[in-house]
Amino acid sequence: MIRSVVHGCGAYLPQRVVTNDELARKVDTSDEWIRQRTGIRQRHIAAEGEFTSHLALKASERALAHAGLKASDLDLIVLATATPDETFPATATRVQSALGMTNGAAFDIQAVCAGFVYGISIADSMLKNGLASTALVIGAETFSRILDWTDRATCVLFGDGAGAVVLKAEEGKGLPADRGVLANALHSDGRQHDILYVDGGPSSTRTTGLLRMEGKEVFKHAVVNMTAVVAEVLEKTGLGPGDLDWLVPHQANKRIIDGTGRKLGLSSDQVVVTVDKHANTSAASIPLALDTAVKDGRIKKGNLVLLEGIGGGLAWGASLIRW
Ligand code: COA
Repeated sequence: MIRSVVHGCGAYLPQRVVTNDELARKVDTSDEWIRQRTGIRQRHIAAEGEFTSHLALKASERALAHAGLKASDLDLIVLATATPDETFPATATRVQSALGMTNGAAFDIQAVCAGFVYGISIADSMLKNGLASTALVIGAETFSRILDWTDRATCVLFGDGAGAVVLKAEEGKGLPADRGVLANALHSDGRQHDILYVDGGPSSTRTTGLLRMEGKEVFKHAVVNMTAVVAEVLEKTGLGPGDLDWLVPHQANKRIIDGTGRKLGLSSDQVVVTVDKHANTSAASIPLALDTAVKDGRIKKGNLVLLEGIGGGLAWGASLIRW
């Protein structure tokens, strides 16, 4: 049985750090409010002229170096983003040409904050079906460009960044002990459009639009759906929460992260948290958190790692990976 085995990861954050105190000088908020409600202390914001593709490229170069591979070894790039450089072509093709990759295919997917888990699932399916052999899965965003900087209820929550992993198709035994992606679960519910969306787009308004959110409603759905999808993905493999080494959740809010970890019976030091430093970077948040925990030595080869995320759509999902 083919497994999609992780060979490396990488991440990149824009240089500029914006603290809560700095935001409090622009909108009616405070460091205390933001920290208490979300756990966020700071976020990175892309510079003028620094696009999603630029962040994605730097994360990808680092992931390839970590994997000991070259761009010419790749035959698939799946880039999850809700903030592409242009309406078309896919930002993934910008990364493809900048890397110097000419084999195979590069395309974008759009599942907002669930984008990275969707990307892993799609790349995993393609590797298993023989459509590609070595894939780069990227989550990259410049959410600062779609924020309403006068809306304190949303502008304090998000940041910019990118992360990537390299997956290679390898023969496995079909057992939970195999290295690689063991199972995925994806869901969406379009009825929940109005609680998290961007009020523009090429077909509707010919503008980019700005992010709109009913935070309390999103919070409620996040806790319920995360708990269900985590149980679903574990069930597919016959493994249980007790087998997990690490939970690497989408980094939206420390309270949602803590709630999910508690429901799984995990200790807080098994849950990777970067929301304090990165804020919510949408599709980039999971690979940024993964890269942090791999490079600081927490996540090791053979560890069982659970990724989960939810975002606009609503769209949500989970992936279980033996690292
Ligand atoms: N600073 C200070 N006060 C703020 C504020 C800010 N940045 N944003 C909102 N407030 C105020 C509100 O105006 C409201 O004031 P009021 O009681 O006088 O009307 C009060 O704080 C409470 O607002 P509310 O929205 O009820 O707060 P909350 O406890 O639900 O926390 C979120 C707000 C956004 C932090 C929380 O709902 C959340 O994290 N939701 C999930 C969002 C998310 O994760 N989205 C991304 C998913 S991908």
